[in-house]
Amino acid sequence: MKRISIMNGRLIDPASGRDEKADILIEDGIVKEIGTEYAPISFFDDSDAEIIDAAGSYLIPGLIDVHVHFRDPGYTYKEDIITGAAAAAAGGYTTVICMANTNPPIDNAEVLKELIEREKKLPIRVFQTANVSEGMKGEILTDMDDLYAAGAVGFTDDGIPLTKIDVLKEALTKAKKLNVPISLHEENPELILSLGINKGKASEKLGVGGAPNISEESMVERDAALNMEIGAKLDIQHVSSGGTVDIIRRMKEMGCNIYAEVTPQHLFLTEEAVLDKGSLAKVNPPLRTEEDRLKLIEGLKNGTIDMVATDHAPHSREEKAESIEKAPSGMIGLETALSLLYTNLCDKGEMSMIDMLSKLTTNPASLYGLPYGRIVKGGEADIAIFDPQKEWTVTEDGFHSRSSNSPFIGEKLKGKVTYTICRGMIVYKEGE
Ligand code: DOR
Repeated sequence: MKRISIMNGRLIDPASGRDEKADILIEDGIVKEIGTEYAPISFFDDSDAEIIDAAGSYLIPGLIDVHVHFRDPGYTYKEDIITGAAAAAAGGYTTVICMANTNPPIDNAEVLKELIEREKKLPIRVFQTANVSEGMKGEILTDMDDLYAAGAVGFTDDGIPLTKIDVLKEALTKAKKLNVPISLHEENPELILSLGINKGKASEKLGVGGAPNISEESMVERDAALNMEIGAKLDIQHVSSGGTVDIIRRMKEMGCNIYAEVTPQHLFLTEEAVLDKGSLAKVNPPLRTEEDRLKLIEGLKNGTIDMVATDHAPHSREEKAESIEKAPSGMIGLETALSLLYTNLCDKGEMSMIDMLSKLTTNPASLYGLPYGRIVKGGEADIAIFDPQKEWTVTEDGFHSRSSNSPFIGEKLKGKVTYTICRGMIVYKEGE
């Protein structure tokens, strides 16, 4: 029987609202006891019992990321499901949802089943989405029934916006019937001159066309209005524009079944980063202005934005070394997300830890109907230990990911995950 006792930590669990000093006893993958009265040491009559002293640390639910790219199959020189899962565990994540823009794309049950079989063997919980359209071409709907039956937890053509409204209407209707989220990358290509760079100061300085806020806002407005009558679980991915926050708030007030994700990069960087860090800060949709950034933070605080999702998007050093116009968009994020949020929001008193954690645990769990992201007696033992005092610097060679394309390299952060436990097993221990 595998037992772990985590002693002297501060339990912070948005699901139960608990924020108090507590010990946790884990037995065979389940949270057996929570409290200070159960005298855990006396439980241990066997030799494999492990005791972790978590004095000064937070005991938090294993995090959930609804938006990662593990590049498997097809682009495994950037990442694969094994290195992706290792990066997730190092960041405190025990559940992730993989996007489907692979090669081949996940648009048929055969590819999906093979991938899911491999994902089941990973040390953390890795779930898979499938494509909305065949070949991600936005023209013909995939066999969503078949893909759902084969294990898809949601549908998305992330990376490529769905421009045809009739295709989207059909997809939303089907997703509503299946009761699964449909996640949309909202950027109207007709309004974009060049991807990944904000139309404004950044595009002017770099002498490129840029991607304007309206390309995102116009699609969100259209798709939310369409979903008003359909009522599918519509998830707006990586919100970047302040105007989009206003649209989502209004649509929620009108009763639209709409959810929103924001990434740490859109919360903590602006278009200035592209001028400073070049292609490492190139991302679709682009990093925008300080005004946009502050509206994203406000939206996160007031509940308009439901989730922080990393959009962990690994690319190789060679690819990112191309010119700013040629280099691919996206950045890794799993190993820096929690520390960035803690440093920039919680430690500064902008947001409480429990509120912030709801965006990484209970909210994503509820969108996908998952029984994770909480620490309750009798529940799954998915737990991260976070030391809020630990200061560290992000370095290029410090990542568990196969790629290191992060615009946060060199950043000094406060707070670090020291252990991640998934299904009652230690899947990450700092320094090992
Ligand atoms: O910048 C991005 N890169 N945005 C996306 O939505 C997709 C991602 C990727 O797959 O590289």
